[in-house]
Amino acid sequence: MPVLKREQARDLGDPSGLPKLPVPPLQQTLDMYLKCMSHLIPEEQFKKTKAIVEKFGAPGGMGEFLQKKLVERSEHKANWVYDYWLEDMYLSNRLALPVNSSPVMVFPKQNFTSHSDTLRFAAHLISGVLEYKSLIDGRALPVDYARGQLAGTPLCMDQYNKVFTSYRLPGAKMDTLVAQKSTVMPEPEHIIVACKNQFFVLDVVINFRRLNEKDLYTQLERIRKMADIEEERLPPIGLLTSDDRTQWAEARSVLIKDSTNRDSLDMIERCLCLVCLDEPSGTELTDTNRALLMLHGGGMDKNGGNRWYDKPMQFVIGADGCCGVVCEHSPFEGIVLVQCSEYLLRYMRGSPSKLVRAASMSELPAPRRLRWKCSPDIQAFLTASADKLQRLVKNLDMNVNKFTGYGKEFIKKQKMSPDAYIQVALQFTFYRCHGRLVPTYESASIRRFQEGRVDNIRSSTPEALAFVKAMSMLCDAEKMELLWTAIKAQTNYTILAITGMAIDNHLLGLREIAKELKLEKPELFSDTTYATSIHFILSTSQVPTTEEMFCCYGPVVPNGYGACYNPQTDHIIFCVSSFRDSAETSSDLFVKTLEGCLKEMQDLCLKCNSESKPTDSTEKMAGNTKVMKNGSKS
Ligand code: COA
Repeated sequence: MPVLKREQARDLGDPSGLPKLPVPPLQQTLDMYLKCMSHLIPEEQFKKTKAIVEKFGAPGGMGEFLQKKLVERSEHKANWVYDYWLEDMYLSNRLALPVNSSPVMVFPKQNFTSHSDTLRFAAHLISGVLEYKSLIDGRALPVDYARGQLAGTPLCMDQYNKVFTSYRLPGAKMDTLVAQKSTVMPEPEHIIVACKNQFFVLDVVINFRRLNEKDLYTQLERIRKMADIEEERLPPIGLLTSDDRTQWAEARSVLIKDSTNRDSLDMIERCLCLVCLDEPSGTELTDTNRALLMLHGGGMDKNGGNRWYDKPMQFVIGADGCCGVVCEHSPFEGIVLVQCSEYLLRYMRGSPSKLVRAASMSELPAPRRLRWKCSPDIQAFLTASADKLQRLVKNLDMNVNKFTGYGKEFIKKQKMSPDAYIQVALQFTFYRCHGRLVPTYESASIRRFQEGRVDNIRSSTPEALAFVKAMSMLCDAEKMELLWTAIKAQTNYTILAITGMAIDNHLLGLREIAKELKLEKPELFSDTTYATSIHFILSTSQVPTTEEMFCCYGPVVPNGYGACYNPQTDHIIFCVSSFRDSAETSSDLFVKTLEGCLKEMQDLCLKCNSESKPTDSTEKMAGNTKVMKNGSKS
């Protein structure tokens, strides 16, 4: 598929120099759709679907008409799928943001010994945020380039501009992603500090001067003291933002009837980001528990109310050392979150705290507590939101596991794509746990294109099914052959997706343009197979980091798994989530099975793959596997 070079695109009038996302050929998408679903649904249903798809794609049929309209749309939009995708993926989703939508980044546990330690960390981090923001504003961030498959292409940097300027406004039917427009005389910038469920305005620019770290520390100390005054405490309004979107929209419409509340909301909506100074959670800070605390704050009794989920970036700094970022996902992808988080961790490591050297402003205006007027209606909303958050807390089943058997280096030595290999391992695991494969989502970046976000790599390929079935029956040579085929199919799909040729965005575009033209919904999209195809029981994503931290998120359907992985040279971090009230799923079982599957695949590679030259480490790994299988050393 031809990807325009930057210079060619620039000639076509795009200032970023990136090509536009192509509209894939109709027949290619329809054939691929059938191929993706053929082995995941009963034969009878597939026959029916095949007939529907053929009718849709017939010459002169509805498919051709919609395709023509989509191509026309692509001619006058920077990215033909962006709005459709944003609404479908995020804005029209009514589920609560925590767990269901907002991914988190979990930082290494910090060792704070006092409140001042915590505030020093916070002041240092805020300084880093301000540095990073000025790089974004000055267009001084280095352009990202693709790595891995088809490495070297420049990537769209659009998402960075939204990190500190967006706000997801709840709506009755659909949310709105609001972007702040820069004004001629920008107002002083501020962040919101959440402490003990109270919200404080911390101006970071006063009298046209950016606060230095010492100033920030002074202001944070004042905030801490203000938050400690029990008589002044206001209800935990942030809980409302953890509710489902329609409910929060309704509560907000009541809240804004009062001018005090309106002013407070306005300050939050226009802030750069939140810094949440959390109370100690009273929980052992294992990787899994830190992930849970970051995803939902531990509910109302812990830090669940110390959040404002509509804001894209919430930096959480727990007094017990549990730190990370909670991210509202609609403005940007996890990769941008990683880049920002890594910048901050490097900044904090590389630039020592300037608290000692810097001089603080003598007379800083005091930070302001945001006021709320809570009518009985709002109190009722708060009680309901707290209950729902509590249910979410109880329901989330999370397992963060560092698989230390091997990492991407071993896989590369097999001449295989580590990502494809891990995806096949996830399919193998699902099959072992559930005896079938299911529609799977793997996010694939399409930032090679203007305003590109992601499309889907459908990892449950027929080739993956053939491999996982073979693992319990055939001889090693046949299994190895099928593993190669499965990895090749996965790699090919990846290349299709990152070059804008995957099927999910295209099908969404065809569906949405029919709606926009007020046409009757094409049968293809009312067919049960289509509903099955977008019910992603396995929702996966590679989020690699170069700093010590990991990303995780919840499942996207009630009976599903979220599986986020972070491949490193010699290990892989897996963050697996599911819901306890589903009888079908168990994160612990999934992770345990995954470990076994990864070991079996390694064993197979070591036995069969002629490319695999035994090295010290692979010999060691082979030895370990033998001990496990035979129960005694050979
Ligand atoms: N033999 C040896 N090495 C190989 C190989 C092979 N056959 N195939 C790939 N490799 C190497 C690559 O060169 C790369 O090397 P590097 O570590 O030096 O860069 C490495 O293995 C990783 O490549 P691969 O595993 O194929 O994956 P990838 O980096 O191309 O990633 C996607 C694939 C789909 C994850 C990536 O394209 C993508 O879209 N990422 C974004 C996902 C995202 O948006 N996540 C956040 C969602 S919120």
